[in-house]
Amino acid sequence: MSVDLVLKEAKVYIGGRVIDAGIAIDGEKIVRIAKEVNLPSASEKINLNRTFILPGVIDVHAHLRDQDLSYKEDFYTGTCAAANGGVTLVIDMPNNKPVTMSLEALKERMRIASRKTVVNVAFYSAFPEDINEIGQIAHAGAKAFKTFLSHKVGGIDPNDEDKMINAFKEAAKVNLPVAVHAEDGSLLLRKFKEVAGRSDIEAYLEVHSVEAEVKGIRRTMRIAERSGTHVHVCHVSTSEGLRTILREKSRGISVSCEVTPHHLLLSEKNLKRIGNIALVNPPLRPLSEVLYLQWALENGLIDIVASDHAPHAFKEKDASSVWDVSAGISGIETMLPLMLTMVNKGQISLSTLVKVLSENPSRIFGLKGRGQIAEGFYADLVVVDLKREWTIDPTEFYSKAKFSPFDGWRVKGKPLKTFVNGVLVMDEGEIVAKPGCGKIIR
Ligand code: DOR
Ligand code: ZN
Ligand code: ZN
Repeated sequence: MSVDLVLKEAKVYIGGRVIDAGIAIDGEKIVRIAKEVNLPSASEKINLNRTFILPGVIDVHAHLRDQDLSYKEDFYTGTCAAANGGVTLVIDMPNNKPVTMSLEALKERMRIASRKTVVNVAFYSAFPEDINEIGQIAHAGAKAFKTFLSHKVGGIDPNDEDKMINAFKEAAKVNLPVAVHAEDGSLLLRKFKEVAGRSDIEAYLEVHSVEAEVKGIRRTMRIAERSGTHVHVCHVSTSEGLRTILREKSRGISVSCEVTPHHLLLSEKNLKRIGNIALVNPPLRPLSEVLYLQWALENGLIDIVASDHAPHAFKEKDASSVWDVSAGISGIETMLPLMLTMVNKGQISLSTLVKVLSENPSRIFGLKGRGQIAEGFYADLVVVDLKREWTIDPTEFYSKAKFSPFDGWRVKGKPLKTFVNGVLVMDEGEIVAKPGCGKIIR
């Protein structure tokens, strides 16, 4: 037997261990993991010089934009950015223009994406106005629903508790999770009125408070219990929010959670120093919260780390009133390097990294055949040099949003090559695949 490709002389992360081995790939899949002498012959061989092969990163939270928001990002630039960051599968958020909230809107996004993506892309949908459409949206291949408690995105007013519960129940019927942006809308509004006339970052933090997140998460847990739906809490940024989730989980509520690299590594102090480029919802928090999230990550209490890649045009970040600034961080290219740096510093183990970036995302979002390195699995892989030290330079991003609160950070650990469905897509920072080679994951 001869296969398409053999990756040889590597350190392969498999089943929680790192072994000296190679990987044989045929078509889209891994067919053999073995010592070199035991690998089949291949049309092409790549010597990896003893660098690591990890499962490709699955980023369950990214805003790829495109359509009427293409000036911020499009499927090509966003997925090139993903590949550059070692990400092989992205789940795309629905707060687009038009909002992904109907069968037609979802199909149209899939159609546009299929010609442009260089990594695999799956889709969230917002809830449609008529919840009877939830079944069709699931049938067309949405992998999850997304709702914001902070404001209305999609067809359902988040303040309407009964409608929300019914929508969650419909999602449960088609076996899809619901991801929640859990900042409580009524509390945000009340605080916003209290700070009337102020437009500084302090006022912003008073509105987007710890309490707003905790209240949102408590409500999310009640909805989870009443509906019986699996809920996934996006970008948890507070210790009390996370403790609430952990308590409910231990009571048997079906819930998972994610944190972002920026909430793990940056605090309110960075926001005040850096300004608008670090403005994001939920905002950066006091250092005590950051340290709790780091502790929780290494202790296995956080299911997923996701980028919340939220690119904006520079002029949208550059407003004088904080209320006019678009919130969000261009984070998909820095997530894996920052996490590898945490591994190098001894803050987390390599197995925690693989769990939160690949294994758990695959399990929680039902991405069959992906998220680990195993025979029969898709060859979605990232080759990393764990020892390479370099400096983050956002002007080199593939994302259209070429600015970052991590600008100038020294990091240790670099994605060298990204393979998607067995195809080399990124090689030493260069995109070497054609647009459209990524797949739509239904
Ligand atoms: O900072 C944010 N940006 N938080 C969100 O919830 C939305 C996102 C965006 O789409 O820009
Ligand atoms: Zn959000
Ligand atoms: Zn987001």
